[in-house]
Amino acid sequence: KPRYAVFGHPIAHSRSPEIHLAFALQEQVHISYDKILLPIEGFSQGVAAEIQAGLQGANVTVPFKLDACEFADELSVRAQLAGAVNTLVVRDDGSVYGDNSDGLGLMNDIEKQYGVSLQDLSVLVVGAGGAVRGILQPLLERNPKAVSVANRTVSKAQELAHILDIEALSLQDASLRQFDIIINGTSSGLSDQAPDLALAAFEQCQLAYDMVYGAKPTAFMDLARQGGAKQAADGLGMLVGQAAVSYQWWRGFQPQTESVLQSLRASLC
Ligand code: ATR
Repeated sequence: KPRYAVFGHPIAHSRSPEIHLAFALQEQVHISYDKILLPIEGFSQGVAAEIQAGLQGANVTVPFKLDACEFADELSVRAQLAGAVNTLVVRDDGSVYGDNSDGLGLMNDIEKQYGVSLQDLSVLVVGAGGAVRGILQPLLERNPKAVSVANRTVSKAQELAHILDIEALSLQDASLRQFDIIINGTSSGLSDQAPDLALAAFEQCQLAYDMVYGAKPTAFMDLARQGGAKQAADGLGMLVGQAAVSYQWWRGFQPQTESVLQSLRASLC
């Protein structure tokens, strides 16, 4: 059976195995997909050993996305721009290709599940860490009217904005503006908090999207709804979407995401 895995630290919480096994069911093939915990300092050694043992592809999660970028022999352009890899593809000659499917997973979810076309809309991305770096290039490829990046530590937003030739804002300045779409790429949700944006920033917002997910709406989603956002979303669809892109890389089969997303959602509640 073809073997795949997800590497992380921690990894016990990962939902990736059930997502990929559901995709395999659609393709009507048997695969194995394991959660593999690697020591923080042992990424490349651990992955190399698994490849030696027949691993054909892998997902990579926190904190190894940068290590995976270094590990890959060749990178997709978007992985280069993100400086982070979440998908490894082992080729027939044993070389390893690295991609980052997070951004495409997010864009597909925004367009398909929430019915919002990004073209000609103004987008605010909140945060300037690794998660945000992974999505900016695929976002810009959708040709939005404008993309601004805001961060609590504004210098980090400025660095990122400079590279991509977009606007950087402080959270205070972003709070005085209106945006069609606001994406939360900060890790604030992990501690049940929302970034410090004013309610007024959401008045014209068609979709407020939090890249993290949980059993109940996140603090950012609550804030957005209070501020008048038409729709508020969490990142579960992004998770399934990035998995679908990885699966297609590995197997050349394009899985349907909707039913997988529904059963995953049901299992969270
Ligand atoms: P990740 O890989 O998840 O992006 P990271 O690189 O550590 O993690 O980045 C975390 C991001 O979340 C940063 O943009 C951080 O803001 P700072 O640069 O000012 O630290 C942001 N963040 C985390 N907690 C936050 C909070 N409570 N409010 C606003 N921003 C927060």
